[in-house]
Amino acid sequence: MEQGTAVSTDPEVQPAPAPAQPVMMIEAHGLSKYYGPFVAVEDASFTIPQGQVVAFLGPNGAGKTTLMRMLTGFLAPSAGRATIAGFDIREQRIEASKRLGYLPESGPLYPDMTPLELLRFFGEARGLPPAILTRRIDEVVEICALEQALEKPIGKLSRGYKQRVGLAQALLHDPDVLIMDEPTAGLDPNQIRQFRDNITRLGRTKTLLISTHILQEVEAVADRVLLIHAGRLLYDGPRVDLEENGSLEEPFYRLTRELAADAAPGTDTRTPPAASGDATPPDDADATAR
Ligand SMILES: Nc1ncnc2c1ncn2[C@@H]1O[C@H](COP(=O)(O)OP(=O)(O)OP(=O)(O)O)[C@@H](O)[C@H]1O
Ligand SMILES: [Mg+2]
Repeated sequence: MEQGTAVSTDPEVQPAPAPAQPVMMIEAHGLSKYYGPFVAVEDASFTIPQGQVVAFLGPNGAGKTTLMRMLTGFLAPSAGRATIAGFDIREQRIEASKRLGYLPESGPLYPDMTPLELLRFFGEARGLPPAILTRRIDEVVEICALEQALEKPIGKLSRGYKQRVGLAQALLHDPDVLIMDEPTAGLDPNQIRQFRDNITRLGRTKTLLISTHILQEVEAVADRVLLIHAGRLLYDGPRVDLEENGSLEEPFYRLTRELAADAAPGTDTRTPPAASGDATPPDDADATAR
């Protein structure tokens, strides 16, 4: 018998169990969003297993925010579906939301509330028991370095502090999945560094999808990259496979420029497939609690 294929007859030595199927925490199945004839996102499909940190890259207007809003249930897709921890984000919204923290591009709602009031409000809305809520508020205030700003109305806080409040809110219920739309936009260098440390720590137990324009940030925190351009996913794979000479700068430039160059003047590459005929009007559900 060849080496490596021997089967032990010793009852104490059992063959190693087959690896358990990884749990998929974020799934996109053919997600598309059309605004009339304009394609914001076209047929995006991917799955992200538990514990992975994924960077979502793409130039301005590529479709990152649109796709994230469909994943988090704030925007109805024209086609396709999304699940969080196995729960359909539209059909099983409450179950999915319990496991999801979302930091939107626009920052926290309710400018008249102080951060403390906002965190209490969202914690109570999520049904966190008072003792747990108090503890969690202490924890997220520390993680996001919010002590200085707790009593000031959110509308009067600097952009960076607003961003921290949004992050604290996304982390409050200790969700398994975090979807963050440009979380470091507006943070100072010290905060960016602290944020990276937080991501590294959170990534040990949680599943993270983070959009950013800062390529060095991706190099620092993400194992995998999703690259979107003109509404279409161009790359989905390990970060290191995309890098050239240890950097993402050149491949990012080339991939996103190449496609733009393909679009000859007057050629609109962002039109929906003829068969779909879907011209779903904007269906933004921003008024619902995050
Ligand atoms: N409600 C809307 N109606 C029409 N077009 C829209 C609407 N919302 C977004 N778009 C368009 O969809 C495209 C994708 O926008 P999106 O905000 O998803 O880009 P993005 O990748 O997040 O860009 P950025 O890096 O600037 O944040 C853009 O061309 C945008 O103008
Ligand atoms: Mg965006």
